[in-house]
Amino acid sequence: MKRLLLIVTGGIAAYKALELIRLASKAGFGVSAVLTRAAQHFITPLSVQALTGEKVHLDLFSLTDESEMGHIELSRAADLVVVAPATADILAKMAAGLADDLASTLLLATDKRVLVAPAMNVRMWEHPATQANMATLKQRGVLVVAPDEGPMACGEFGPGRLAEPPVIFAAIEAALRDGPLKGRHAIVTSGPTHEPIDPVRYLANRSSGKQGHAIAQALAALGARVTLVSGPVTLPDPPGVTTRHVETAREMRDAVQAALPADIAICAAAVADWRVDSAGQKLKKDGSGQPPALQLSENPDILAALSAPGPTRPHLVVGFAAETEKLAEHATAKRARKGCDWLVANNVGGTGIMGGDENEILLITPTSAENWARMNKSAVAARLAERIGAFFA
Ligand code: CTP
Repeated sequence: MKRLLLIVTGGIAAYKALELIRLASKAGFGVSAVLTRAAQHFITPLSVQALTGEKVHLDLFSLTDESEMGHIELSRAADLVVVAPATADILAKMAAGLADDLASTLLLATDKRVLVAPAMNVRMWEHPATQANMATLKQRGVLVVAPDEGPMACGEFGPGRLAEPPVIFAAIEAALRDGPLKGRHAIVTSGPTHEPIDPVRYLANRSSGKQGHAIAQALAALGARVTLVSGPVTLPDPPGVTTRHVETAREMRDAVQAALPADIAICAAAVADWRVDSAGQKLKKDGSGQPPALQLSENPDILAALSAPGPTRPHLVVGFAAETEKLAEHATAKRARKGCDWLVANNVGGTGIMGGDENEILLITPTSAENWARMNKSAVAARLAERIGAFFA
């Protein structure tokens, strides 16, 4: 039986934790619950105890608790630690490493993965302090189920509402799923990059990130720990995946390097080949009628760097090739040139694939070349993840 350590912190959304416990229990999970002092203003230990069927933990200095199961042991006994709802306060404590009550002490002491589902007023969520804390936590591998947007209990509108319990539970299941990729770390790049021309303009491309994001989610569904490095996209962060947001190719390269070591790397991002040697100030018309000349420099090739032999080379490196003609020929040459193991080639020539919902691909491995029928991008992702699962079996 899988065990969750559920930490409920104080906010109006705490009542949704009861529904989360119900879903987890129904699915056969054991749940140890911790209520902070503030959470006890919103739900009672008695209702939590009735739903978990277990003693609820409230106090860091409880003699009975410490003699039955010390807080260090409590922090280790679960397969996953879940903080739902997570207030701005607990996120700040986690980011700073504070341990001044039972919840924060468990979070500092645990050796297990942690998943947080934040809920707070929109201003508190958007405050740079909260956003900086979230960035720190994500960087450390904390999983995040992002808050929903909508009308809030306080009368304001915007992101900050706790995600619905089934969504949080799906992320919990994804994080704990045993699959052929359990214990493997995968890095996936996705989306376009934006290369600034000046402080207000940038070069970009039509990549939506749909394929890369779907691959990240499909690998997580097979049990992999996934770091998704995403350029600017409008998609939500996939549940059960650690997402790092970047803008430029160089930031993407740095985030990928920081996420190593990994067993698998999949470069699905449409990385800009060139960056502009950008002006510090906005380019102005100078009245001569002559447009300014943009000076370009080549961006680092993330896929080629990952594929280069060395101690941190992932065991399986998969590249993508966006081509508009001579698919097989260009893709085979690209696989050799980049030094990657597999190459997923897609024809982006005018068929609505770039940015669309479907993909038609040719998978090239050292020993085969397979044409896959046109299918939607999640089906491509699931099939690719399955192939990767079989590769590691
Ligand atoms: N790629 C990368 N870093 C770059 C450029 C590309 O990691 N600076 C990766 C992409 O994520 C993709 C693969 O390289 O997996 C191929 O990208 P593509 O744009 O098709 O190829 P290019 O190297 O740009 O070659 P060309 O434009 O000449 O076709």
